[in-house]
Amino acid sequence: MPAFSVPNSCLFRFAVVLCFAALGLAGDPYVFYDLTVSYLTASPLGVKQKVIGVNGQFPGPILNVTTNWNVVANVKNDLDEPLLITWNGIQHRKNSWQDGVSGTNCPIPAGWNWTYQFQVKDQIGSFFYFPSLGFQRAAGGYGGITINNRDIIPLPFGFPDGDITLFISDWYIKSHKEMREDLENGVGLGSPDGVLFNGLGPYRYDNGLIPDGIPYSIVTVDPGKTYRLRVHNVGTSTSLNFRIQNHNLLLVETEGSYTVQQNYTSMDIHVGQSYSFLVTMDQNASSDYYIVASPRFVNSSDWTKAVGVAVLHYTNSQGPVAGPLPDLPNENDKFFSMSQAKSVRWNVSASAARPNPQGSFKYGDITVTDVYVILNRPAELIDGKWHTTLNGISYLAPTTPLKLAEQFNVPGVFKLDFPNRLMDRPAKVDTSVINGSYKAFVEIIFQNNDTTVQSYHLDGYAFFVVGMDYGLWTENSRSTYNKWDGVARCTTQVFPGAWTAILVFLDNAGIWNLRAQNLDSWYLGQEVYISVVNPEITDKNELSLPDNTIYCGALSPLQKDQAQRVNFSKGTPQFPRTVQTAVIAIVAAIIQTLMTR
Ligand SMILES: *[C@@H]1O[C@H](CO)[C@@H](O)[C@H](O)[C@H]1NC(C)=O
Ligand SMILES: *[C@@H]1O[C@H](CO)[C@@H](O)[C@H](O)[C@H]1NC(C)=O
Ligand SMILES: *[C@@H]1O[C@H](CO)[C@@H](O)[C@H](O)[C@H]1NC(C)=O
Ligand SMILES: *[C@@H]1O[C@H](CO)[C@@H](O)[C@H](O)[C@H]1NC(C)=O
Ligand SMILES: *[C@@H]1O[C@H](CO)[C@@H](O)[C@H](O)[C@H]1NC(C)=O
Ligand SMILES: *[C@@H]1O[C@H](CO)[C@@H](O)[C@H](O)[C@H]1NC(C)=O
Ligand SMILES: *[C@@H]1O[C@H](CO)[C@@H](O)[C@H](O)[C@H]1NC(C)=O
Ligand SMILES: *[C@@H]1O[C@H](CO)[C@@H](O)[C@H](O)[C@H]1NC(C)=O
Ligand SMILES: *[C@@H]1O[C@H](CO)[C@@H](O)[C@H](O)[C@H]1NC(C)=O
Repeated sequence: MPAFSVPNSCLFRFAVVLCFAALGLAGDPYVFYDLTVSYLTASPLGVKQKVIGVNGQFPGPILNVTTNWNVVANVKNDLDEPLLITWNGIQHRKNSWQDGVSGTNCPIPAGWNWTYQFQVKDQIGSFFYFPSLGFQRAAGGYGGITINNRDIIPLPFGFPDGDITLFISDWYIKSHKEMREDLENGVGLGSPDGVLFNGLGPYRYDNGLIPDGIPYSIVTVDPGKTYRLRVHNVGTSTSLNFRIQNHNLLLVETEGSYTVQQNYTSMDIHVGQSYSFLVTMDQNASSDYYIVASPRFVNSSDWTKAVGVAVLHYTNSQGPVAGPLPDLPNENDKFFSMSQAKSVRWNVSASAARPNPQGSFKYGDITVTDVYVILNRPAELIDGKWHTTLNGISYLAPTTPLKLAEQFNVPGVFKLDFPNRLMDRPAKVDTSVINGSYKAFVEIIFQNNDTTVQSYHLDGYAFFVVGMDYGLWTENSRSTYNKWDGVARCTTQVFPGAWTAILVFLDNAGIWNLRAQNLDSWYLGQEVYISVVNPEITDKNELSLPDNTIYCGALSPLQKDQAQRVNFSKGTPQFPRTVQTAVIAIVAAIIQTLMTR
């Protein structure tokens, strides 16, 4: 390495990094997971049903990693149908091969396994994974992804005394297969049967409503301590108001951005969204306390089911919780939730994955190069079948994934013609993709013509939420944009009859999924992909096709049968790979120490 002779410590350091990279010994640690996805029997609402578990757990395990770590996850499909796991909010820089959605990967057939490998590059925060095909998330299959700060970057708050993940979700007793059949037949989902906390039913706060003997979630805490609660709405389609009796929620992070720290008594968390709160156990523990997740934007006189209730138990608690639940605030004020959403702002001075402050990327000063106004409509009949649309197009998933079709030049799979406005033409079913220019700065306005809240998620990126309001978006709406501290996240809500505007810098080459997180809207066609191609083709733009790629559709002839088709639940025991990880982490730490000298 000639650079070793250059007496400049920065260059020297650079050379060492390159050197190790060349030897295949990148300094960032590897962590290995085996994730076996299978059906389990559970009765969260007192009725036995089949749910989807991961490693025998429902919800699945939490992947607890640190910025820049490499995750190797061997996903084993023990379901009776195809599976893909997607890593919601993980940006997979230059690596949409690992995104785990139908446009980038062939499904893992039942009885097969597939190993994902990706780096959580330049990210921190709270995310989750879930099965992306065939409505499976309605049955479970999800788990957390926690990305910790590197040691060299301090948290913008005191290190919490504990870290607790809560999954909240609306829940149906019907199976995911029945639910998707209903939708295909034009039957709406109807009101959920309940709301779960970490896969468990409600605490029996009302004897009339809730049968005896349902296990519920208990969060045990020590008095005086402060915990970080990571709360994910992993449900099917219902916005949930999250609150803890008598306790403030100090909002600190959402989907990878540190926020301006503010206290809330409750937070509306929409489908697919994630938030971190610091909660200080500052009450007198005269009893336990309720933790509540109750439906938002539903007509409460139609809601006859129990809401989600878990129990906050102090170790010095004097007795069980009793009495009425804390109220759902401002139920009939449609502006309350929107004002709360706008109050979630970026802490521009906090550092996140990199030492420089988050706000050093001054998005408000960048000139917008492309504008998309994307209108969603409720389900409609197109050629006799039920579909949902974005700009009048219902996405048709091709049998050959877009990304593979692009790689192998398979003609006719998709068209780069997704319109930037609703066109004056009948709605259609098509594989129409957004032609994103590399390094374009794109403004997307979601206009919700449905009567329910929708959330939209973009893979591969964090985007800035700069505005939202009721009514139709117009050019004048731009004067209301937050050009300074709008939060960067990956899932935003769009209120019924309202719009939400986001800005996104297309610097991550790949083909990326933009979708409704509400499963009913998504399943019937509300998704599109953005193709971002860097015209200068070099190895550094995008990682190459993985060796273990599964082939399907037009490329099926390339697929070799997987040698072992086994029942993973019965198969070989899974050994924790922590020893291996520890060794690699130690080596990495030694290298880092040497380099910082
Ligand atoms: C997650 O990892 C961090 C950093 O390695 C560690 O401090 C923490 O205890 C871990 N959390 C859990 C729940 O294992
Ligand atoms: C399937 O799992 C086995 C180990 O159980 C592993 O050796 C193999 O590489 C995996 N296959 C794929 C395609 O990831
Ligand atoms: C939030 O509320 C807690 C009490 O629960 C209080 O100690 C703290 O100062 C408040 N923080 C802010 C930023 O308002
Ligand atoms: C504990 O706090 C509750 C609510 O703030 C209050 O009603 C109750 O009197 C307190 N109990 C004790 C023993 O201080
Ligand atoms: C809620 O539902 C009840 C009963 O179905 C109906 O009478 C009422 O008008 C509805 N309220 C709203 C705000 O839609
Ligand atoms: C923003 O982050 C800084 C850390 O850089 C922290 O000291 C400050 O309290 C945070 N500000 C707010 C309003 O949350
Ligand atoms: C896509 O956009 C690029 C510019 O970024 C342009 O060169 C290309 O012609 C476009 N492709 C289509 C099919 O419109
Ligand atoms: C949907 O669009 C139609 C036609 O423009 C309009 O009449 C209706 O008010 C819209 N509904 C919502 C909820 O935006
Ligand atoms: C795999 O084995 C488990 C445990 O014996 C069993 O419950 C499950 O039904 C089997 N799965 C399949 C697909 O055969």
